[in-house]
Formats: sequence, structure tokens, C-alpha cells
Amino acid sequence: MEIAIVGAGYVGLTSAACFCESGHHVTLVEIDPGRLQQLERGECPIYEPGLPDLLARHVGGRLTVTDSLAEAVARAQFLFVCVGTPPRPSGAPDLRALRGLVRSLRREAGDNRPVVVLKSTVPPGTNRWVYGRLGGAFSVVSNPEFLREGTAIDDFFHPDRVIVGSSNSEAALQVAALYTRCTAPVLVMNWEEAELVKYATNAFLAAKVSFANEVAALADAIGCDGLRILEGVGLDERVGVRFLAPGPGYGGSCLPKDLQGLAWKAGRLGVRLDLLPAARRANRRQRERLLAKLQRELGNLQGRTIAVWGLAFKAGTDDVRNSASLEIIPWLCRLGARVRAHDPAARDTFAGACPPEEVPDLVILDDPWQAIIGADALLILTEWDLYRQAPVEAIVELLAGRLVVDGRNLLDPAAARAAGLVYRGIGRG
Ligand code: UGA
Repeated sequence: MEIAIVGAGYVGLTSAACFCESGHHVTLVEIDPGRLQQLERGECPIYEPGLPDLLARHVGGRLTVTDSLAEAVARAQFLFVCVGTPPRPSGAPDLRALRGLVRSLRREAGDNRPVVVLKSTVPPGTNRWVYGRLGGAFSVVSNPEFLREGTAIDDFFHPDRVIVGSSNSEAALQVAALYTRCTAPVLVMNWEEAELVKYATNAFLAAKVSFANEVAALADAIGCDGLRILEGVGLDERVGVRFLAPGPGYGGSCLPKDLQGLAWKAGRLGVRLDLLPAARRANRRQRERLLAKLQRELGNLQGRTIAVWGLAFKAGTDDVRNSASLEIIPWLCRLGARVRAHDPAARDTFAGACPPEEVPDLVILDDPWQAIIGADALLILTEWDLYRQAPVEAIVELLAGRLVVDGRNLLDPAAARAAGLVYRGIGRG
């Protein structure tokens, strides 16, 4: 099939590469000249394991990149919309890129009429609006994405389900048929239902993580093993074990953004939601709990040196949006601590995202061991394997203090304690 994809961001790039891998021809439209040139050279502009190889294989072959929407539309059977919809301060998604695209489509589309497929996360009602603005001349299908950063390629080929929403069920099924390499169930529904599946899924995942974090806090207070409790809860098939790992609070661009977006939409509709704002509050509380674990052992943090392992919001990405580090490191600096941090991928993105005046006493080092030399405590915030495999004896040797606050439960508590560390995990008693 001939597919056009607008927006070479995270979702657009992954989808483009994976559709090519499935045998389709893709024209990727990107207006940022720097990104376009990178792509033309076959370079991958984002950090995503496996993606550079796929792009290198397909750019210049089944994958064409261009800044011309008209050129892409002219030959496409499907036009995927993968433009950004970042949150505004009100929580409402910013739909300016989408509106601009719809205007261009009205102006520039020739006789060819591809099926317009919205992958961008948009509030219920948006696909219907797009259909109306295009004068009913195009079939419009909502096809939300469920790709996780760090495992996006595997998620693309092995989704749990394919959701397609449209007023035209034939077009919806044609879109579902593009996912030739997957055997997942296909759910055909209307536009608003498909739009809401996306928001509700991310909102549920956020609430599930917050639930796990609260059970872990209870386990800590009782002095028992929260991970065993959560395993016991999760093995009930109605609950499910996945996404129940307690940690430093969920981050990334999507869970926080979609929770906010859904709350905004509910407000517009006059529907009172109690659970979702609570999940958000619980997430912030989780970060405060991590700080409190440090303060409980060290007292005043003024003049203390804290080593932080992990800046990315999770392993497998260089993304620091809403990461625990972005919130906790400025708190530490405000309390007068010096911070020595390390991350194998997110060094530059963190430096770009955090204003230097908020972290005057932060040094980011290239070597995790350099970061802990002479520190009073180690705080682990991202679950990189590098940290999971760190020998506790080496930590004991290099850390000046004895405290490890393991925000990802990576280390073996018994081994850490036997080596002489004061170990504080999340829900580990
Ligand atoms: C999330 C969804 O999982 C994807 O399905 C969706 O497509 C994507 O948002 C999106 O809307 O584009 P992502 O933001 O990449 O994907 O990250 P997740 O893997 O969902 O993790 C979110 C946060 O929850 C991370 O900070 C992670 O560390 C945390 N988490 C996750 C936990 O603390 N515990 C868990 O058990 C799982």
C-alpha cells in the first residue's frame, strides 16, 4: 500500500519504519528542515532502540521523506496524522498542528482522496470535527497508538489490540488490514469511542501505577514485602501483574498529559471525576516520599552530596519529560544539597529540559561510579540494567555514606544490607 505519514516525531517515525518493514511504501512528511536533512541522510533523530537500523534499511527504498504534503497526498491511499498534541496549561491538548494540517489538506489536496487516519492523541470529538472540516470528502479513521518509548517497535508488531473508529466501517477495516504482521484482535467502533479508548487506557495505567505505589507505602509502614503483596494482587487475572511495579511515580509525556487531557474534557462536559485527580496527587506524593526517605536518614540535606542514578523517566529512552529526576533534583538543590548525577542516555536531554538556575549544584557525570564517589547517599531513579547489575561491594567502597534509596527496587535488599548499606527500597519493608 502507499502510505503518507505527517509528522516525523516519535509515533510518526516508528510507524513509518514499521510499515516499511511490513512491505508498504511510506512517504514521511516533515517540515522541520534539520530533522528532514537528518532523515535524508538515513540518520535517526530520536533515541529508540532498533529504530536506527530500520530507518537505515528503508530510507531511499520503501521510505521517502519530504516537506511537501501535496506530493505525499498525491500518491497515498492512507494519510496518517502523527502531529504533536502537547498539553496547554489548562490541560487541554494543543491542536494547532492538527488544525494547520487540515487547512493545508483542504487547500492542497488534488483529486486523490486518501483515507485520513488520526494517530495523534486527540480529545473525543476531534475526528468528527476533522471530517466536517474536510467537507465529508475524505474518510476519516481514528487509530490511536499504544507504543511505549523504548519498546515501540516490538509494540507496533505485537499490539494487544488494534482500535479503529470511523463512520465508515469499510475504511476502518482497510486501516486495520495495514497491520499485516500482527494477529491482535481488531475493534471497530465510532470516532469518539476510539478517541476515548486511548485516553482511558493511559488514565487507567497511571491510576494502576499510583495504586501500586500506595500499596508499597503501606507495606513499608507495616514492615512487609510490598512486591510480594503486589504479586499476590496482580495474579488475580482481573487485576493482572503488568504495570504494578512501584517506583518513583509515573513520568513521560503521555500518562501525565492524557490524565490532564481527560480531566479537562470531563470538566468541559460537566462530569465530575474523582479517581483521576487522585492518581495525579498520589504521583506527586510518591516523589515527596522518596525525598522523605533521604531526609529521614540524613536529616538536614544542607551541604550533603547526593548521587542520583537515572535521569530518564524510564529505561530505554533519553526522554526526561515529567521524570522523577526533573522534580526531585531541583528539590534537592533547593534544600542545599549537591547532586552528582548519571544517566547512560538522558544527560543532554536533562540539561536541555532543566533550567540551570534551578539546579545550581548539579554535576552530570559520564561514569556512574564517578557520580557516587564521596556522596552521602545514592538515589536510584531509573531502572537501567547498568544500575541493576551494579555490584553492591563497589557501591559500599565508593560511597562515603551508607544510604541507598532505591526508587526502582533494582538492588537485592539482603545483599545490600549484608554489604553494610542502609537500604531503602519502595515497599520493601
Ligand atoms: C505510555 C503507554 O504505556 C503507551 O501504551 C502509550 O502508547 C504511550 O504512553 C503514549 O500515549 O504514547 P510510555 O509513556 O512510553 O507509554 O511509558 P510507560 O511504559 O507507559 O511508562 C510510563 C511511566 O510509568 C514510566 O515513568 C514508568 O517508569 C512508570 N511505570 C510503569 C511504573 O512506575 N511502574 C510500572 O509498573 C509501569
